[in-house]
Amino acid sequence: MHQIGRHIIRLESVDSTNNYTANRAKLNDLPHGAVILAVEQTQGRGQMGTEWLAEPGANLTFSVFLDNVNLSVERQFILTKIVSLALTDFLADSGVTATIKWPNDIYVGDRKICGVLIENSLQGMTIKRSIIGIGLNTNQKQFGNLEATSLILETRQFRSNDDVLFSFIRRLNERFDQEAKPSILDTDYLNRLRWLREERTFEDAQGMFQGVLLGVNESGKLIVSKENEETNYGLKEIKFIR
Ligand code: BTN
Repeated sequence: MHQIGRHIIRLESVDSTNNYTANRAKLNDLPHGAVILAVEQTQGRGQMGTEWLAEPGANLTFSVFLDNVNLSVERQFILTKIVSLALTDFLADSGVTATIKWPNDIYVGDRKICGVLIENSLQGMTIKRSIIGIGLNTNQKQFGNLEATSLILETRQFRSNDDVLFSFIRRLNERFDQEAKPSILDTDYLNRLRWLREERTFEDAQGMFQGVLLGVNESGKLIVSKENEETNYGLKEIKFIR
């Protein structure tokens, strides 16, 4: 049913593939599963209003459009799990062991290799459409003072962006096929979660604290043990320090 990637739109330059996808979707001009990729984004967007910078042509910047999602908002985290798992599956196929920094940043060691920005449109409490924006560092070799890495730095092998994109899409379709088996997604997501069961420094509204990351609840909140009590955090409520 998911059949992502049957329709591919390639753009030389666009502000943001997520914006472009949203505009085309508003015109009812995009089939479900369309993938929109751009060589260059002039205003690539990251999570929480940040900017996503990528060397033009050297990386993959694309969006996947899902129509008729019909998922209740309480279950929306399943999309995050599917996408993060497909990315880490694809990286594992390439010989790269990656972890998921909650909710959906993909890391190799301490360096970020991929970021995801999922934007949903709702009807009442139901997600109708979803735009999954992905920035995957493929062939960029230098990141200045950013703690980032790329596929070429990790594997020492050049792979074309098309090859990477199609390999990832295959994994994404496979993970979507598991949507009806949430326990597999839950287990795999937990097993790949960065810092799971480790004692780490976090920061919440009360300040910095030492805590242990215990997992993620049904609605996708992070569960951290703080002063021996389980506390659930939403995206803007906690920071990972070290
Ligand atoms: C993050 O880690 O902050 C999320 C980054 C998401 C970047 C991708 S690149 C393709 C798509 N279009 C955008 O403007 N952003 C996403």
